[in-house]
Amino acid sequence: MKNKADLLILNGRIATLRGFSDKPQRGSDFGRLGLTDGALAIQGDKILAVGPLEQVSRQVELSSARIIDAGGRLVAPGLIDPHTHVVHCGSREMEYGMRLAGTPYIEILKAGGGILNSVRQVRQASVAEMVAQTKKSLRRMLAYGVTTVESKSGYGLDTDSEVKMLRAMEILNHIQPVDLVPTFMGAHAIPEEYKDDSDEFVRIIIEDMLPRVKELAVFCDVFCEEHVFSIEQTRRIFKAARGHGLGLKLHADELAPTGGAQLAAEMGAVSADHLLCVDSDGIIALAKSDTIAVLLPGTSFNLMSNYAPAREMLEAGVAIALSTDYNPGSCPTENLQLIMTLGCLKLGLSPSQVLAAVTINAAHALKRADLIGSLEEGKQADLVIFDADNEAYLPYHFGINHTWLVVKSGKVAFKKHEEDYCEDRYPNCSGS
Ligand code: NIG
Ligand code: FE
Repeated sequence: MKNKADLLILNGRIATLRGFSDKPQRGSDFGRLGLTDGALAIQGDKILAVGPLEQVSRQVELSSARIIDAGGRLVAPGLIDPHTHVVHCGSREMEYGMRLAGTPYIEILKAGGGILNSVRQVRQASVAEMVAQTKKSLRRMLAYGVTTVESKSGYGLDTDSEVKMLRAMEILNHIQPVDLVPTFMGAHAIPEEYKDDSDEFVRIIIEDMLPRVKELAVFCDVFCEEHVFSIEQTRRIFKAARGHGLGLKLHADELAPTGGAQLAAEMGAVSADHLLCVDSDGIIALAKSDTIAVLLPGTSFNLMSNYAPAREMLEAGVAIALSTDYNPGSCPTENLQLIMTLGCLKLGLSPSQVLAAVTINAAHALKRADLIGSLEEGKQADLVIFDADNEAYLPYHFGINHTWLVVKSGKVAFKKHEEDYCEDRYPNCSGS
């Protein structure tokens, strides 16, 4: 008895990204899209078969399937955004003028703005307010083809407010289609009340926060940076987090080379992120490890700073993923497709590589590559059909949304809206 499909995608140029569920793409493997022209059959929330239509119809009973004709368009795994601060409150455009006038990001933070500005807003907000604001962002992300998003706490910086942020994520996972992967980031900044005693704040993170959040989060992240958390403090937090069963992630070597990449590799972190200032020892340490380098070129673009040395990393054998870093300060955009363009233009990656960096390698950066990141039999049916013939067209035609349709867990979750141009008001411009 053949399995019965309930959804069939036909005539797709399918970038399967197959064959890398147990290891990320690196070196000469980076950018292997596993392209196949054909069909993809889904049952429930799982992929049943992918390949030429004759092959799929031999494997699967298709008679009762709803059919979507992709018309030769590019079909890719649902995009994965593996580093975001999507849950926050309000915005920070009031600091934009300062940044445009040249005030460095870290100086704004040291003066009590930046992250601490968002902390004041989150502490005052209710869970419902945070859920409402984030839901809008997640809809926008879904429209860009994103089906899984990592989401950090870190705008609470006291135990109750950190728990509040993680509770908002828990609720969001039940009321909208995009999967959120929660990360506890109590070590995102030193709150004003501990600015003269950061070690005491680290103690609170370890003794008070971690035991309260361990069931709500999957990962623990630290902003390891000069004037924020030192290598030694990060190590202490990481040891405690690991003891509670949390995976590790690190904001590493963003503003200065502090040895963050080495620490991430040494402690078996799932990812080391940012890495604008990583040195050659850091690159070697990452290349020898399973730690994924999550690069965030949108943050460099928006902060008008340098970019991570992606080519050097690639040549050394580091596994690379890309992400928006969506947050209200250093990178206020939900548009992962724009980040793919920056990955090509500013990091020197190819269109195939940036697609791998936001699918299979991003799945590895969340330890979910057994479930998502490629279009293979048995995996979760998360996919995006782009209104594009090939992968190069996505970063090339930049700044627009290429999504034609998104399937999330086997269900159509987004369809491109055919704009209504009010042609009755301009009858001579109807184009027919
Ligand atoms: O990843 N670098 C630290 N944290 C965030 C920024 C958060 C914010 O400015 O609100 C980042 O860039
Ligand atoms: Fe970040």
